[in-house]
Amino acid sequence: MVNNSNPPSNSPLTKGGTSSSSPLAKGGDNMNSPLAKGGDNMNSPLAKGGDRGVNILEVDELVKTYKLDGVNVEAVRGISFTVKSGEFISIMGPSGSGKSTLMHMIGCLDVPTSGRIIIDGEETKDLNENQLAKLRNQKIGFVFQTFNLLPRATAIRNVELPMIYAGLSISERTKRAREVLERVGLKDRLNHRPNQLSGGQQQRVAIARALVNDPAIILADEPTGNLDSKSGGEVMFILQELHKEGKTVILVTHEQYVAEHAERIVRVLDGKIVSDEKVTDRRKSDNNSEIVK
Ligand SMILES: Nc1ncnc2c1ncn2[C@@H]1O[C@H](COP(=O)(O)OP(=O)(O)OP(=O)(O)O)[C@@H](O)[C@H]1O
Ligand SMILES: [Mg+2]
Repeated sequence: MVNNSNPPSNSPLTKGGTSSSSPLAKGGDNMNSPLAKGGDNMNSPLAKGGDRGVNILEVDELVKTYKLDGVNVEAVRGISFTVKSGEFISIMGPSGSGKSTLMHMIGCLDVPTSGRIIIDGEETKDLNENQLAKLRNQKIGFVFQTFNLLPRATAIRNVELPMIYAGLSISERTKRAREVLERVGLKDRLNHRPNQLSGGQQQRVAIARALVNDPAIILADEPTGNLDSKSGGEVMFILQELHKEGKTVILVTHEQYVAEHAERIVRVLDGKIVSDEKVTDRRKSDNNSEIVK
């Protein structure tokens, strides 16, 4: 399934529209939506970080050592790699190998012990906390295994949250949140709270929240880990559509089958990269795909 050559640095951008029965497509042919803009409009916010072939992420000799009860845990032990704009990569590795630690540092949710992270040309260690928060808000959308939605907020309020930090007006926030939720097939669930939604629907709310500020990079840490095979298939379909539209996608997964939806697989073991390979025969998700475990 994989070989050792470098990933392709470009592939044609495609428009946002998909088959009308897909979770992404309900509302997906509305070219005014934040998602739909990304496809071919080079003035869109997506295009800012979307020059295919340019390094959108550079990770250099990254180290994270946790100190717990006087014991050092070396979670990440010198990881270096680059990701080109518009690439879709999977990060695989056994439990405890440092995948989430790495993702949290890339997502500016945690600070490295040493090493560098450069996001869209910006050296993150030169940024103060406010600047880091702004970078995270504008450039990165994070999707977690456990959804991490606010339990008492409706779907639309959860999706509006990153736009509050971005300073958008309430009318603009509501409009965009509605568009993105429609895009992930949740037009009829805007006012549901997380406990009134299925796991797959909650994850789609989380994806909508990750997308609403039109980030260049989507970081997804085991996004299918808590889902049934059909909901997992829908999530992979959405990630592949976003990739087609020009987003850079970095996906953490335990599962080879899920990993093969990406263009490239980086394997980590004990906090280090052990292989970095191109996927030669990518799996394609469609609306009816199921994740085979
Ligand atoms: N906040 C923390 N304090 C101390 N040690 C930690 C902390 N977070 C993670 N670790 C340790 O760092 C190592 C890497 O953890 P990490 O969560 O990155 O692994 P992972 O590859 O994401 O695993 P999984 O597949 O189970 O999610 C583990 O040994 C873990 O116990
Ligand atoms: Mg993890």
